[in-house]
Amino acid sequence: MWAFGLDFESRTARELTLPDPRPPGWGEVLLRVEEAGVCGTDRELAAFRLGRPPEGELALAIGHEAVCRVLETGPGATRFAPGDWVVPSVRRTCSPACASCSRGRRDLCVSGGYLERGIFGLHGYCAEFAIDRESDLTPIPAGLADLAVLVEPLSIVEKAIASALRIHEPEAETGLVIGAGPVGLLAAMTLRLRGLRVAVHSLEPRGHPRARAVEQCGIEYHSARPPLADIVIEAAGTVQAGLLAIRSMRPLGVCAILGAPNASGPVPFMDLIVANQTVFGSVNASPADFERAVADLALFPSALLSGWIHRTGRNALSFTLLGEAGRYLKVVHRIGE
Ligand code: BGC
Repeated sequence: MWAFGLDFESRTARELTLPDPRPPGWGEVLLRVEEAGVCGTDRELAAFRLGRPPEGELALAIGHEAVCRVLETGPGATRFAPGDWVVPSVRRTCSPACASCSRGRRDLCVSGGYLERGIFGLHGYCAEFAIDRESDLTPIPAGLADLAVLVEPLSIVEKAIASALRIHEPEAETGLVIGAGPVGLLAAMTLRLRGLRVAVHSLEPRGHPRARAVEQCGIEYHSARPPLADIVIEAAGTVQAGLLAIRSMRPLGVCAILGAPNASGPVPFMDLIVANQTVFGSVNASPADFERAVADLALFPSALLSGWIHRTGRNALSFTLLGEAGRYLKVVHRIGE
């Protein structure tokens, strides 16, 4: 079958030919991949700064923001029927399973031996077909299929925001998101849905399409110094964004770091102590986060979100991954052509 990914021998991102899928086994489902979104992780993969092929193989099909339809169900798989829309999760358990993986929280894997489809050791969804256990799939109402490519990035946001709100006491009133990409916008909308007053800070000047996208959501946009907030989410993936996020908390504030890389620099330990502030990192998402993402997506203004998505053919994958980040918030490739 057709696939697209990384050839670790020639270190190029290119079309691949993978074996056609076998019939689904016990509890498994055969999927036709309809579309796959591209994010910063895919760009890192395409630059060979991240990623690992399946054991014993020299290539990795990428793609982890996928929307699929069920083609066939295996014996014992009763949750889905052919034609159903689903979004797969990304991470699979370590083996032997650690305490977190054993209790269904692979996103909190403590051994580091987890696998991730399209990223670490398992082929992803830039491939015509995929097989998954039905427990790795979240059902998507047919009416939401057009936006379902946002479910995986939104699941990341859901996990971080649920953790931040749990940690913050008393009830948080204000939120600040650093970064105006898809994750930043989804974080801002989710914080607002939870009843917070929200602002977004990013470096793009007023009038830039990303700044406009924030304002179209009815959310305050700041390209200069942002206001302090109770909950701060770093979603820009830079050291500067991480440091700004930490310094933008109000007393008792909670800050989630989602993308900033390691850095050395001034860390305001004493300020954190005297203001009772919390900084934490968050990666991946649990099945409950995926379900919450589907529920919240249905509440967001669909016309606005549709405007973030630019759909193109699968033959544009190299261009999307290796070219300029471009003006679209979320580029999505039709895989099932
Ligand atoms: C994905 C996560 C994954 C992380 C690290 C992100 O882009 O959304 O599911 O755990 O990359 O590989």
